[in-house]
Amino acid sequence: MTDSRLTGALRAAQVPPFHAMDMSLKATARAKSGQRTLFLQVGQPSTGAPAGARQAVIDAMRGGESLGYTNAPGLPALAERIARHYDDTYGSRVESDRITIVSGASAGFTLAFLAAFDAGDRVAVLEPGYPCYRNTLLALGATPVPIAVGPESRWIPIRAMLDAAGPLDGLVIASPSNPTGTTLDPTSLDDIARYCSQRGIQLIADEIYHGITYNGPAPTLAGRAADAVVINSFSKYFSMTGWRLGWMVVPDHLRDVVDRLQQNLYICAPHVSQIAGLAAFDCTDELDGHVARYAANRDVLIAGLAAAGIDRIAAADGAFYVYADVSHLTDDSMALCHQWLDRLGVASTPGLDFDLTRGHRFVRFSYAGQREHLEEACGLLAGWPP
Ligand SMILES: Cc1ncc(COP(=O)(O)O)c(C=O)c1O
Repeated sequence: MTDSRLTGALRAAQVPPFHAMDMSLKATARAKSGQRTLFLQVGQPSTGAPAGARQAVIDAMRGGESLGYTNAPGLPALAERIARHYDDTYGSRVESDRITIVSGASAGFTLAFLAAFDAGDRVAVLEPGYPCYRNTLLALGATPVPIAVGPESRWIPIRAMLDAAGPLDGLVIASPSNPTGTTLDPTSLDDIARYCSQRGIQLIADEIYHGITYNGPAPTLAGRAADAVVINSFSKYFSMTGWRLGWMVVPDHLRDVVDRLQQNLYICAPHVSQIAGLAAFDCTDELDGHVARYAANRDVLIAGLAAAGIDRIAAADGAFYVYADVSHLTDDSMALCHQWLDRLGVASTPGLDFDLTRGHRFVRFSYAGQREHLEEACGLLAGWPP
């Protein structure tokens, strides 16, 4: 466990790896060596940026656009388009000057954490949850406070859990979540926002999987909680991971500092990606087609895993993951994932990335890939242990 009392380079050197990346490297190396490999560890769409976004970039290049720096908050046209998206999709009013375009949600976390927290501040993160919140907080000298969620609260945080965490300066939530896919309903979201607001806890909501939901759209905090930071990205629904583009909806009290941090840390998000992102909003037919494929894949994976005896899973309302309890097979899911990859060619992600305490009993499966791979993988898993 990383010691948050360390300082500077020592502290940074202690930041743990993101095991999903290691597993991906190993799976890719295996595939390259000619061995059959089924990629159920991927954390990104297998598709590229939508055609309209790519065309917009081609047009900009052909038109000789300089593509120099934009201003720090990003292209005004893109911020205005995002504001319109909140209105069209959720009926939420978000002023475009509260939107900062960032180099992926990841940069948004760094900006938000730096703007909102001091070294030593106690910031709650959910377990299981996306590990980079915890690791980025650690690198910045804040103290992540894990809050365990599980089936008893449908994998979402409730007041009693927040109360039990002791005094908090911040809370990071994600809906839909990675690794569970669980989505917060409007009542729970409002309740958490109220809880934080009343206690001066800075709420940061990661909404990167919005648009990829299977039981209706996920509610947004943008325009709902004036003092929360909302972070979103072009990586998932828009299928543009490598373009490194996202956005933040910044509350009034942090606007000025986020702007200055952006100027100093990043200058601006990549201009070429901002052009692509603007056009991507007009590509919903293509992008909704991806979501329909994920929905079909989700059914295949959930049924296939159940047939393989893996049926204790988190509520998978959105994103493209199933987070499964595999404690009937192992108490070391890291070793199990390596065995599955080495012996069956099935790549998956050990739960330890997402939950330092209970992750050894869980595995995350992704269904962002091909349906045939999912079917084949489930067939192989059904024969496990050999
Ligand atoms: C929950 C969550 N937030 C943020 C990210 C990173 O997003 P970005 O590519 O926009 O930096 C990921 C990537 O997998 C994620 O799963």
